Order: sequence, then structure tokens, then C-alpha cells
Amino acid sequence: MTHLEITQDEPAEATDGVWLTCIECGEHFPPFEGIRYTCDECGGLLEVRYADLPTFEDFGDDESAFHGGVWRYSDALPFDEGVSLPEGNTPLHDVPRLEDEIGVERLRVKHEGMNPTGSFKDRGMTVGVRVAQEIGVDRLACASTGNTSAALSAYGSRAGLEVLVLLPAGKVAAGKIAQASLHGARILEVDGNFDRCLDIVKDLADRGEAYLLNSLNPFRLEGQKTIALEIMEQFRAEEGQFPDRIVLPVGNAGNTAALYKAFRELETTGAIDENQIPKITGVQAAGSAPLVEAIEEGWDHIERWDDVETKATAIRIGNPVNAPKALPGVRETGGTAVAVSDEEITDAQRSLAEEGVGVEPASAASIAGLRTLRAEGVVGDDEQVVCLTTGHLLKDPDAAAEAGTDPEPVPADTDDVLEHLRS
Ligand code: F0G
Repeated sequence: MTHLEITQDEPAEATDGVWLTCIECGEHFPPFEGIRYTCDECGGLLEVRYADLPTFEDFGDDESAFHGGVWRYSDALPFDEGVSLPEGNTPLHDVPRLEDEIGVERLRVKHEGMNPTGSFKDRGMTVGVRVAQEIGVDRLACASTGNTSAALSAYGSRAGLEVLVLLPAGKVAAGKIAQASLHGARILEVDGNFDRCLDIVKDLADRGEAYLLNSLNPFRLEGQKTIALEIMEQFRAEEGQFPDRIVLPVGNAGNTAALYKAFRELETTGAIDENQIPKITGVQAAGSAPLVEAIEEGWDHIERWDDVETKATAIRIGNPVNAPKALPGVRETGGTAVAVSDEEITDAQRSLAEEGVGVEPASAASIAGLRTLRAEGVVGDDEQVVCLTTGHLLKDPDAAAEAGTDPEPVPADTDDVLEHLRS
């Protein structure tokens, strides 16, 4: 596994043992001086590096207020604390009926919808906003399919900073817009899809108009890395081993990249062996599946899809900007990527709901993808699997209502209600 190496030789550019490295050309940059999201030399994606990386034993004995959830892992983050609501520490549900039906040895669901604004984005924002404070910026911005904007609005607002969000008009679920609105963001509805929104917000950031907090920002991924650390610790504590596979929905591929980075770091410190790294398995909606295409075709890059469509609007993305980090993550861990239909996503959403786990459509893609891969025999019946559900059911009330049962109007009278129930 060539990509797993993380060098810890501290370059002159480091501040307190933290620096940025280009994943393409290896150039180093200072972490908080000047604002850059990609490499000055070659335009490659940047990654945060540390002179000292922790092992599992280093986490968690600190009793301070900041050391629950994400900040419990501060030894693996650029700061010890940040604007916290607090985030992380999400449940790892049992789903016995799904486990039986799909037919794997063990299936657990890590429900990231239980974060403060209802999605995993909170983990990235608590770190991203802390870095913005360090750099000293006034205005934060993101393009979003909804959840990033909700998280940025809450954390930015809490930090007393101005927030600007660009959303694809008509393609963002109601709960997410309501959140961005009430948390006080300035919301621009763009006549174009998410990828166009991101193009524009990148231009604004390059022109110095705002600090970009999409997952192109390497510090966001540091916060999201803690999902992997939490899964590894929880799963081992409760199941006596690490999971064989983690299945997750893919949009911009930031989370995929973040998981992979966490595993590379754990392997670098010797906290886990190479063969203990879970297989990273990405799921996309069939109507927006450029990463699946790249994996199936064996490409080392993705080809942008200009026309994308899916009911799972959170992952309605045709140009996953983190693909250069995510593709090696899927490949080097022995994982794969699979596309699922909107119908399969809705079925999976219902199945999770039957187990009491309420998720938005994009999140259910992980279960739908596992179902497909198990049916194809790609996933074995002896595997211990964690599916990541990334956002809460209430994020997209319209999709939930459509997938669920309809309310039945009845007269305001007990006998009439009984008669209705018997009919
Ligand atoms: N699941 C949900 C619920 C999401 O909101 C997203 C991304 C993903 C999965 C995919 O994660 O981009 O790291 O591959 N939502 C972004 C947003 C794009 O703007 O909220 P990814």
C-alpha cells in the first residue's frame, strides 16, 4: 500500500508541529499563515500533517469540557478546543432485522444524524471554524446541498462571524434551508447545481471575499476524521475487534477522504496494522455516480458529470472535488464503490425507520449499497460491517412523508374513529 505512508518529519513551515502538505507534489506550507485551499505550486489537494500522532491510548482521559466527542481526539487535531455545540459521540446502533436480512456476521449503524445540526458536517465545522478564528477572517462561505450550510450557519453564527451560503435553487431539502435561515446565514439560491455553486464560491474565496469551508478545506476533513476514530474505538469495545468494512454515502467524497486519512494515521503510529484497516466502500445514487464510474473503469481521476439527478439531494454532486484523496482510499483499503437507484434508497430508508433509525435519503444509500454488494457476493456473509448514516430524517421531511404512510382524516368522535379503524 504505497499511499498509506505519512511522513512526520517536521518541515520549517510547521507551526507547533502542524503543517500542510500537497498530496500531489509534496510541497509544504505553513498551516495558518496566508489562506490557501490547494497547492500554490501544482494546484493539488492539501492535507494537514502532524509531527506527533496519537495512538488510541492517548485519547480520552482528559475530563475537561472540550473532551467529549470530536475534541476528545484533540491530539489528532490542530487545536485542543474550538467552538463546540458539542458534536460527535454519536450512537452505533444495532439493526438486528437488517443484519439478518442482508446476511452479514455483524451490522452496526453509526448515526451521524445525531449531531447538533443533524449531520456529520458538525464534526468538520467545529475544527474549520476554529481555524478561521486563528487565521482571522470575517466572512465564512460554502456551497452546499444543504447540510454543510446548516452546520456552517450554526457554528459560524456561534463564533460571531458572517456566513454566506450558496445553494442550488430548488434542490435543497426544506429542513436544511430552515436551519441556515434561522441561524442567520445569508442564503444565495443559485440557478445551477451544487458543482456550479462550488465553482462560484471558490472564485469568491480566491478573490478574498470569504473563507471557504467546503471539504476542499483540509481542516474540515480533520474534524470528520474523528468519525473513523470513534467507530474504531466503539466497535472494538463492543465487538472485540475492528470492523472489516465501512460503507458510506459519497457526494463530494470528503468523508471518504477523511476516513482514509484517519486509518493511515492510525497505521503510521502502529495503533492498527495494515490488515486491520476497514475496507472503505462508497455508495452513490445512480443519477450522480462519477466516483463509482471511476472505480469501475479503473481511472485515477473522475470525469465530471454535468447532469445529475437523484432524490437523495444531499449527494446530488457530479464533480467530487476530493476524488484524488478518496479514490486511493477506496482502492488501497480493498473497498469498492457502487451505485443504487432512488427506489433502493427509499426502501433502505424505510427499513432503517422500521428499526427506529430515522435518516434522510442520502444516508440510506449506505444500507442500499450494502444490500446490493451482499447480493452480488462482493460483501461476504462473514463480514463485520458499519454503515454510516450521515443525516437525520427531519432534514428532508418531504422525502420522509413520501416514503412513509399517509395521515388518514377522521371525524372528531370516538365512535367514528373506531369505525374508521375497523373499516
Ligand atoms: N450524506 C449527507 C447527508 C450529506 O449531506 C453529504 C454531503 C454526504 C452524505 C456526502 O458526503 O460530500 O463528504 O462525500 N453533503 C454536502 C453538503 C455536499 O453540502 O451538505 P461527502
